[in-house]
Amino acid sequence: MRSFAGRDILSLKDFERNEFFHLFEICDRLEPIARSRQNTDLLASKTLVTAFYQPSTRTRLAHEAAMHRLGGHVLGFSDAKMTRAGDFYQESIKDTVHMLEYYGDAMVMRHFQQGAPAEAAKWASIPVINAGDGWGEHPTQVLTDLYTILKEKGTLDGLTIVAIGDHRMRTMHSIGYALSQFDAELVILSPEDMAPLPEFLAELDEKGTNYRIVEHIDQVIADADVIYMEPVVQPDYTKSVDEAPDEYGMTPANYKITQDVMKKAKGDSIILHSLPRMDELLPEVDDLKHARYWQEAYNGVVMRMALLSSILGAWE
Ligand code: CP
Repeated sequence: MRSFAGRDILSLKDFERNEFFHLFEICDRLEPIARSRQNTDLLASKTLVTAFYQPSTRTRLAHEAAMHRLGGHVLGFSDAKMTRAGDFYQESIKDTVHMLEYYGDAMVMRHFQQGAPAEAAKWASIPVINAGDGWGEHPTQVLTDLYTILKEKGTLDGLTIVAIGDHRMRTMHSIGYALSQFDAELVILSPEDMAPLPEFLAELDEKGTNYRIVEHIDQVIADADVIYMEPVVQPDYTKSVDEAPDEYGMTPANYKITQDVMKKAKGDSIILHSLPRMDELLPEVDDLKHARYWQEAYNGVVMRMALLSSILGAWE
């Protein structure tokens, strides 16, 4: 297995099966720290730099929380408008990263441009984590999601994972790549204008991801072990800032999970949603035994603890 020490986490395209399980094992070791709400000193001599060019609640704060739980330090920005990258100068990624690499030992970047964290990694002498790049990928979210599935279902093989919503989304790309390493079926359901791009499906074919495309939730709900959701009412992920519109579109019934829809599901199926949600996942579903998105959010801290401690060499 390749070492994680010093490694960039940019994509799940190149992740191997044993690397997933290695991270899941580290999650299991570190989880009691998060559960007991204690901080340790595993990364006491390390600093994380956060570079968020797009809004985030979970991804940025889960990385920060993870760093604090491990006794490390955090600095950075959550709004590029407060930096020279976001004002008159429009400072380039190259120049910005040449500064940031002196300020810490690892960097986590969210950007509206696909490939921006990979560009940062070219110029940085410290490891770079992709926290979501345009429509590209969201590897740390999907690592969290796979860990949640493993803990809740006991396996990542033999499962039917029904992915509902906007399949141009970065999580949908990362999970498609990741599932090539498991004996699982990915079932794709999306509105026509949010269907996976042919180039992406060609990549899944090449990687050997087992997938099929369906048109209606009724075709798959009874088979689903995991219902994996993204909104279909979305901002444009290629823009730096997307203010809330005056009126939101409503999610068509076919892409919504409600208490009624879940009556047709297996009793032990689980629902994941990386959040934030719109009306595709109604609060009424929070009370069902299937809901696991709060557990998923908690696991987001645990997975970032595992990732940060790994790339910062705490386990070497
Ligand atoms: N799941 C996720 O990426 O959420 P944020 O946009 O709040 O980081």
